[in-house]
Amino acid sequence: MFTFATKTFGCQMNVADDDEIARQLVARGGVQVTDVNLADLILVNTCVVREKAEDKAFSFIGALKPLKQKGELSAKLKVDEPKVHGALSAVDGGIARNSIEPKIVVFGCLVPKSGDLVEKKFPYVDLLVKTSEPTIVLSELENVFTFPQVKGGFEMTVLVDGERKGALESCTEASSGETSPTEEFPSLMETRHSALVTVLRGCNHVCSFCIVPRVRGRETSVPIREVVKQVKFFRSAGFNDVTLLGQNILSYGSDYNFDPNFVDLIDAVLMQTDVPWLSYLTSHPYDLNDEIISKVVANPRITPILHLPVQAGSERILALMRRKYTVKEYLEKVEKARKARDDLFLTTDIIVGFPGETREEFEETLKLAKEVRFNDAFMFAFSPRKGTLAARYSDPQSRLEKKVWLNELILLQREISQEVNAKYIGKVLPAIVEVKRDKFSIARTAFNKPVEIPSTRKNPGEFTNVRINEVVVSSFKGVEV
Ligand code: SAM
Ligand code: F3S
Repeated sequence: MFTFATKTFGCQMNVADDDEIARQLVARGGVQVTDVNLADLILVNTCVVREKAEDKAFSFIGALKPLKQKGELSAKLKVDEPKVHGALSAVDGGIARNSIEPKIVVFGCLVPKSGDLVEKKFPYVDLLVKTSEPTIVLSELENVFTFPQVKGGFEMTVLVDGERKGALESCTEASSGETSPTEEFPSLMETRHSALVTVLRGCNHVCSFCIVPRVRGRETSVPIREVVKQVKFFRSAGFNDVTLLGQNILSYGSDYNFDPNFVDLIDAVLMQTDVPWLSYLTSHPYDLNDEIISKVVANPRITPILHLPVQAGSERILALMRRKYTVKEYLEKVEKARKARDDLFLTTDIIVGFPGETREEFEETLKLAKEVRFNDAFMFAFSPRKGTLAARYSDPQSRLEKKVWLNELILLQREISQEVNAKYIGKVLPAIVEVKRDKFSIARTAFNKPVEIPSTRKNPGEFTNVRINEVVVSSFKGVEV
């Protein structure tokens, strides 16, 4: 037996990787703990998409230093809650670390970007891995950590419990002071009974603001049979909701000349599994074509979520961002998607204060938000990322000014979300129970929004039906029917 703790920064793809790593460690006799003082292994999965995310990773790794010097930390450091249930249950009580000091492993996007700096600043880190891909992290881990011999090895043999607490800072989450209107019931967003399956790693787009292609490399698709195997595994573990992940998921298969492509992937998952709710993230507007709209967006077996990051409402800024679509094209695609599906739940990402963006250009973004009326949006102040093209553009606008603009957009979007989502009041919707407490429960709709309901008899992960009584921006209150 050995103990481990994980800390996840970044997008849902990082969450998916850490879930898988934790599962494999449990299969090897590991017990996940929430106190780093009890851990033989500490795994830190990093994110560099914006400066704040990177700063957080640095400060977390720095805070681990006393563990190596004195063997323990006096202050509590927040790490991920256990999510994996197996033969060994993940609890802290009565568990101690085997080793005198833990092994610290830092992996993910920070390593290709600033690995040398991490090594210099934190010489006590035992292992740096340039990717968060579970097979690679686990195999590199064997260079610094000796696993006890456990029958079954790295096979996926343990059950998974999707309930997860702890802040999961997604790329499209309010991790850097920016906010999303979904924050009305913040604690409600912290648990999920949904499985994440990565289907495409890397990104072939070269948006001028984005560091992802540099740190994650070119697109590589996970073979369909492997995706189907994983979805089946999650189904057998009781999951009713699976989200397929890729930074740029619509170009699934680009490394196989699109044979198979994204539509083939979805067809295969739907044909070979009985997953009730299937979602996909993130859709680049450039890659959203008529075939995808008619066969995937419109498919009633797919959840109504379409996350279609627009980034800006000005043609000039979109071109500078190298997004490869115009505002007009974006609007046309939205119109087609809405025609194909009247319950479409449309969300987006917007960057405010791209280098050189003027007040007038920012107002075009406000105009676009008013015109499209997104159900929800994730809004960020531009964060210069060294190594990207945009970091070299001159940027006369002050940070303060950008913050003011960002707040203006956030306020506008909150109003829009409130109005758009009010249409659900009085509707009865299927939902999956996420959290069950004595006084209240939380269920999640097919469009991934929490509904607070009075206590339910159902268990987390099970379906129920809820009637929506109240909407607060894009969170809901209702009753079970
Ligand atoms: N693949 C997605 C797409 O099609 O746009 C986006 C993935 S990106 C990792 C997630 C979001 O982070 C982006 O949509 C963008 O809004 C935001 N983002 C990325 N780089 C950023 C930067 N340098 N500053 C601020 N926000 C950024
Ligand atoms: Fe980044 Fe653009 Fe790809 S935002 S992840 S380079 S689509």
